[in-house]
Amino acid sequence: MPSFRADAFVFFGATGDLARGKIFPALAALAHSGQLDVPIVGVARSPMSIDEFRSRARSSLEAKGPVDENAWQALCRQLRYIDGDYRDPNTFAKLRKEIGDASHPLHYLAIPPSMFETVLEGLAKAGGTDGARVIVEKPFGRDLESARELNRTLHAHFPESSVFRIDHYLGKEAVQNLLYFRFANSFVEPLWNRTHIDSVQITMAEAFGVRGRGAFYDGVGTIRDVVQNHLLQVVSLLAMDAPIGSDAESMRSEKLRLFRAMRPLDPAQVVRGQFRGYRDEPGVAADSKVETFVALRLQIDTWRWAGVPFYIRAGKCLPVTATEVFVDLKTPPMSVFDPVSKARSNYFRFQLSPEVIVSIGARAKKPGEGMLGEDVELVATCCPENGGRSAYERLIGDALRGDSSLFTRDDTVEAAWRVVDPALRDDRPVLPYDPGSWGPAAAAKVVADGEPWHDPYPREQPASK
Ligand code: BG6
Repeated sequence: MPSFRADAFVFFGATGDLARGKIFPALAALAHSGQLDVPIVGVARSPMSIDEFRSRARSSLEAKGPVDENAWQALCRQLRYIDGDYRDPNTFAKLRKEIGDASHPLHYLAIPPSMFETVLEGLAKAGGTDGARVIVEKPFGRDLESARELNRTLHAHFPESSVFRIDHYLGKEAVQNLLYFRFANSFVEPLWNRTHIDSVQITMAEAFGVRGRGAFYDGVGTIRDVVQNHLLQVVSLLAMDAPIGSDAESMRSEKLRLFRAMRPLDPAQVVRGQFRGYRDEPGVAADSKVETFVALRLQIDTWRWAGVPFYIRAGKCLPVTATEVFVDLKTPPMSVFDPVSKARSNYFRFQLSPEVIVSIGARAKKPGEGMLGEDVELVATCCPENGGRSAYERLIGDALRGDSSLFTRDDTVEAAWRVVDPALRDDRPVLPYDPGSWGPAAAAKVVADGEPWHDPYPREQPASK
């Protein structure tokens, strides 16, 4: 794994949404922490002067809040812009000239995957892929077959060690803490298996709809948008065995083992929903069958997890915006004080957003003569999401340094598609649900034995299971 530092940062799609919403703010944050001392070259089709390009960059920072003037000046000094058609060799000749004698550029393809091949070929012909790295964004394909095709396209120009696939969830502090918490505490591991864990639930709820991204979303749906990537990555961190080392390859190989043990989804255990009003969104087909909600049951065939269901629920227009993992422990073997019931079992709760919370649900005696208990929650850690640092800042910084630990590998991406592929082929109708509800009523049936879904709740509310 080459660990050299990239000596130029090039981003294609420099006038697009990703550049505006994520890349400029991450670059400014890197400039703020003194990590941006290389030429930054934006490439896009629109003709524009460097001043116009700078003012786009500036307004994307202003949209996020007050601008740090020192960081802005540092970013401005490095910023360049090249316009041109991606099919025109001249665009890549201009780029070559702009990055001067850089021998290890980092190319970020913030463009639709349909353009990857054209851009990579243009780069290669201009000698721009030698010694370089490339960043690509999810979705990494639409299914297993297209993911393989995409990997072939990338590998035609870059070895896998130079490909950095961004799943921004992996850049989140709270997501990294899942792994840290599990393997930095000796009390967790003895409980972390089928003997003590009854089920695991992951809810990613968003109280908003498709926010003007109707055309994109309608070609994707919830399973491709967040399950195949973000949420299966969360499952892998919750369920993988301890890696043999903390280096990128040990981590990624252990994750791969887990992905390969996930059983492909059974469509009978998947409920897809669509919020009422979705079909009126701009860019959405009037007869769209695309899901904006999914609830599913996943099985992992390992000795550690055999028989333990992992439930995933994700959707738009739900009652809250929060992502939470709920690990439900088995009930005590018999009753001494409280009657034994599922509602009284212990649990681990990891809130990934809006706050980072790790807590343990337990029972404690209520003051008084009787041996009567109440639910209490022991909050182990609690802080604002990402401590103010964006996932993109972390990931772009890592890619500049050549650290691939938090990026997904080709084999893992393909293994994740193998898991979700059967659900993508499910042609049963999506079930309508009201905005502000927890999805279609049928979602309740995904969870076994009348067990409820555990809705994420804010910290200040009392624990209610
Ligand atoms: C993106 C999805 O990958 O993740 C969006 O395309 C989703 O639909 C977003 O809203 C959620 O990410 P975060 O970091 O805002 O929770």
